Amino acid sequence: MMSITKKILILTACIVVTVSPGFAAGPPAHAVASAHPLATAAGVEILQQGGNAFDAAIAVSAALGVVEPYSSGFGGGGFWLVHRAGDGKQVMIDARETAPGLAHARMYRDAQDNVIKDASLKGPLAAGIPGLPAGLVHLAEHYGRLPLGQSLAPAKRYAEQGFEVSSRYHQLAGFVAGSLRQNPAAAEIFLQDGRPPRIGYLVRQQELAATIDAIAKQGRDGFYRGPVAETMVRESRKYGGVWSLKDLEAYRVVEREPIVTHYRGAKIVSAPPPSSGGIVMAQALQILETFDLDGMSNVQRKHHIIEAMRRAFRDRAVFLGDPDFVDVPVARLLDRSYLEGLALTVDPSKATPSDVIGGGPALQQTGTQTTHFSVMDREGNRVAGTLSVNTLFGACFVAAGTGVLFNNEMDDFSIKPFTPNAYGLIGNEANAIAPGKRPLSSMTPTFLELPDRVGIVGTPGGSRIISMVLLAALDFVDGRLPESWVALRRFHHQYEPDQVQFELHGLTEFEQQRLAGLGHELREISRRYGNMQAILWDKTENRVHSASDPRGEGLAVVVPAEAGTQ
Ligand code: GLY
Repeated sequence: MMSITKKILILTACIVVTVSPGFAAGPPAHAVASAHPLATAAGVEILQQGGNAFDAAIAVSAALGVVEPYSSGFGGGGFWLVHRAGDGKQVMIDARETAPGLAHARMYRDAQDNVIKDASLKGPLAAGIPGLPAGLVHLAEHYGRLPLGQSLAPAKRYAEQGFEVSSRYHQLAGFVAGSLRQNPAAAEIFLQDGRPPRIGYLVRQQELAATIDAIAKQGRDGFYRGPVAETMVRESRKYGGVWSLKDLEAYRVVEREPIVTHYRGAKIVSAPPPSSGGIVMAQALQILETFDLDGMSNVQRKHHIIEAMRRAFRDRAVFLGDPDFVDVPVARLLDRSYLEGLALTVDPSKATPSDVIGGGPALQQTGTQTTHFSVMDREGNRVAGTLSVNTLFGACFVAAGTGVLFNNEMDDFSIKPFTPNAYGLIGNEANAIAPGKRPLSSMTPTFLELPDRVGIVGTPGGSRIISMVLLAALDFVDGRLPESWVALRRFHHQYEPDQVQFELHGLTEFEQQRLAGLGHELREISRRYGNMQAILWDKTENRVHSASDPRGEGLAVVVPAEAGTQ
């Protein structure tokens, strides 16, 4: 049995701040920050066995898929932004899910062209072909140092021996217990007698452990061919899904060039399409660079950030989709004179109504769950990984016999262009469903780089991911540490709906009054949102900092070489 508290105590004992004079070539310590203490422990375990950051990324990703089934998993996908210290290579490994071969643009609409409630959210029809297992294999084959089986061992152990239900798990399972109950295989694993398990209950996943073992021993073939694949396809079809063996066999990871932008001397490296994160953030930063944010009052600064978000999210809605299927005009969207032109449309004295900007359909809301981790090793290799099954517990469907919980990432497509989707929001043609296509994502794993400092950051949170990472990037440039980035009060604008969304206490009464006075419609979300995991290497002081969002139950550690690491 895995005791989280015990693990935290062990890891806390490892936390140090290492200081050495001068400017260092490599960090003095490893660091791991993830949304769950057991996932962080898995990363540390692999680093201590001589693995590099990429092996640790495999261990953390796989562990998150076991202990945070509401956020990510082997039946889901994700993006790993990778920096290899040896040659400076930076790339995004795209393991996003793909639409099955029988998918089509109207698959979630009835004969009258109405959106069928929940069809893209619940059950196997909502699931894209998973990318996570292929991504783990790719990481091990191309970047890791250890055998895949060794890096997967902690996740397999957590699945076999079980992990304790936390208050967060209990609460999140409560939100979807009704849907989980619809699928006996999911209810059996994730509920206790049909109800959210009590805190401390052990969730054991023997079938998932066997699937992880198959991946460990056979690589891709352990998941995308053979008994696991056959069972997933059979179970999918039995319950109304459309997966085929051909779809699984055809799944491919894609290495993509990151989006790179510069803001006040900092280099920001982030996720390219099929994520919208890098482009939206780059556009917002370029717009903001034309303003003297430091010279503004707090309210004026927030007003300008909101207006920059509004304009960047407008372009997301109009232009972005899977670059393998649609022509995404990246160069034009990031053109400096275009963005300076957009900046000129910002009125410091009032909000610009989104319909005045015009230009097309609004944003389709993406899932609110997902997870993130950041890792760095002592060689300076880094990974920012954002992983997802989309909404809580994905499709709430497990393929019996495999332990694989299916994603519901198909809902990230535009289910019906120009018409509000199940979330009451609107999508666009560039993100319409097509076989083999990847749905547009907001996941924004990011590196923040200055000559003397390097940051690794990301968070879950659907479309709000991008604004959270944007606020963290601005905080990084202002010289603050990860502890500050993860704790920032959060606000967001996504063009449509035309409102400033902010988390509970995200804006003060005074800020709300002043922003409303500028014409902004304000909407307080009834809870705090996001779960940011961040690392900073300060090269001048040669110190490594890491921080886990106080809103979550994650754990960030810095592990010096003296703690037995290589
Ligand atoms: N499913 C969440 C996202 O990709 O943005």
